[in-house]
Order: sequence, then structure tokens, then C-alpha cells
Amino acid sequence: MAIRKIRTDGDPILRKVSRRVDVFDWRLWQLLDDMKETMQKENGVGLAAVQVGVLRRIVVVDTGEKILELMNPEIVEQSGSYCDIEGCLSFPGVYGMVERPTKVTVRAQDRNGEFFEFTGEGVIAKAFCHETEHLDGKLFVDRVDHIMSQQEINDYLDKKPQDKSSAQE
Ligand code: NI
Repeated sequence: MAIRKIRTDGDPILRKVSRRVDVFDWRLWQLLDDMKETMQKENGVGLAAVQVGVLRRIVVVDTGEKILELMNPEIVEQSGSYCDIEGCLSFPGVYGMVERPTKVTVRAQDRNGEFFEFTGEGVIAKAFCHETEHLDGKLFVDRVDHIMSQQEINDYLDKKPQDKSSAQE
């Protein structure tokens, strides 16, 4: 396993559309292992392959209990909505408020190509939305009405219960 370099703001690859995964071989498994290690080192809750420079529809999401590996993920159901602070590993230190569904079901393929569905709420639902948007070259900064100042970030985090929702994706 190896840590991969995370592409950051200004890198044009972040605006590109990723291609579907159709080969489920050792190269994919190696990339998945590297993505998981990179995400954990950076304390992220999610990471898309494009963020490490690979234009394939691959996402990893940390549910707190396990790390999901999602190839060709599609959101098949969503409900509710709430607004919460959001960040991204490709935009270090940048945060804004984003409205997301409270509950999201995603359909994807695992590392062997088998289809599965997973339903997540809160931070996990948010990560599913944030990461699948990365695969279409869409970024959370497009969705915020403004980038929060450090004072705004501190005020917001002081008021809410401690959880991982301010973690970066
Ligand atoms: Ni992100």
C-alpha cells in the first residue's frame, strides 16, 4: 500500500468526468488499498479516485464501522434534507454550508464487480453525495453560498455536538 498525492484546488483534473470501471483486477485492488490508506492518513470520511489523479468511477467512504469500496456508484434513493458544514480533502481549510439529503441509498459494485446497495444517514449520506459528484467533476464549493471564515467555522462547531461531520471528503 502507498499514500497517493491528493490533487488540490486549481488542478483541472478535478473538473473532469470519470469513466466507468469495467475491469476488476489487481490494479483496481491496489488503487483501492492506496485510496483507503490515503483517506485515513488525511482523516477524511470519503475519497474519490479523481482526487488522486485517476479518472475512474471509484469511491471509498468510511462509515465509522468499515470502509466501503464503491465502483460505479449511483444514488438510487434519497430523502429528507439538512444543512451542515462541509469540506473536501482537495480544498484544505475550506468550509461552507451545504444542503444534503438526510438519508441516501447508493447502488455500486464491490472490488469483484458484484452489485450491492447501502443506505447511509447523516455524515455517510453526505459523503455519498459529495463523492459521487466528484465523479462528474462537480465540487462542493459550487454549492456553498460563501466560503466560511475561521470565525464562522469556530462559531458553528462550538454550537453543535461533536461528531465527524466537519471532516473532509
Ligand atoms: Ni471532496
